[in-house]
Amino acid sequence: MDTMPDAIASAVARRVDEAGRVCVLTGAGMSAESGVPTFRGTQDSLWSRFDPMRLATADAWRADASLVWAWYRWRMRIVRQAQPHAGHRALAALARRHPCVSLVTQNVDDLHERAGSTVNAHVHGSLFALRCFDCGLAYDGPLGDFLSDAQRVPPMACPACGGGIRPGVVWFGEALPDDAWDAATDAARRCDLMLVVGTSGLVHPAAGLPALARRHGATVVEINPEPTALSGEADHVWRATAAEALPGLLAASA
Ligand code: OAD
Repeated sequence: MDTMPDAIASAVARRVDEAGRVCVLTGAGMSAESGVPTFRGTQDSLWSRFDPMRLATADAWRADASLVWAWYRWRMRIVRQAQPHAGHRALAALARRHPCVSLVTQNVDDLHERAGSTVNAHVHGSLFALRCFDCGLAYDGPLGDFLSDAQRVPPMACPACGGGIRPGVVWFGEALPDDAWDAATDAARRCDLMLVVGTSGLVHPAAGLPALARRHGATVVEINPEPTALSGEADHVWRATAAEALPGLLAASA
């Protein structure tokens, strides 16, 4: 594929226009230009600054729920203050224009939805889909204010059992939500084209979705400014950021 940005935009747009079904798989890089930190790749990335074993496992919650809850409140605040960028909006517009676009995200933020997209699968859950750690009851009560920078904030108590209210994200060692995973694998199997945007491709099983799509005949296009674990199995690689590439793709498609 040509390396001139306009030529890449046109070539990928042509594939989008020709595809009966498009599946878009997004990762943390999708939200980076909105100011939401990625997990890996820079010194500001979350797993460069924080230990996931102390913050993103069920054992971490059992050991120090107030520390974990304060950290997730901080992340919720970043997301609440962030705005979707032109790439999020371009994906929403593409889905309105194209007969079949499925959106599968590993992101736990709500920026796709706020840009107007319907997300078919949040495979790693959602920050704001709170539930009780003990009994699993969904919590839709008040979140309290996010302004404090306290290192420890006790979680709210479940109205049913008194257990701690946890974020609705998938922690290390936990299974992915069945419904989201079924929707994601279905979209990967059925698509003719998969756009893989802003993921390092290091976390399985989500990182296996492009290979699944390919085994079922899809063309895979990676959109990412850096090489990743998935670059080798992509049919085409577009070295650009989400906010650069996706509006360009929309502009070039029919
Ligand atoms: P990572 O943080 O692992 O990777 C971010 C990717 O985004 C990298 O490949 C960057 O090159 C790329 N990137 C950075 N800026 C970008 C931009 N502006 N436009 C496009 N791409 C950009 O994020 P994920 O692959 O999503 O899991 O991480 C996967 C999972 O690991 C996360 O869902 C999370 C984490 O542990 C859970 O929380 C369960």
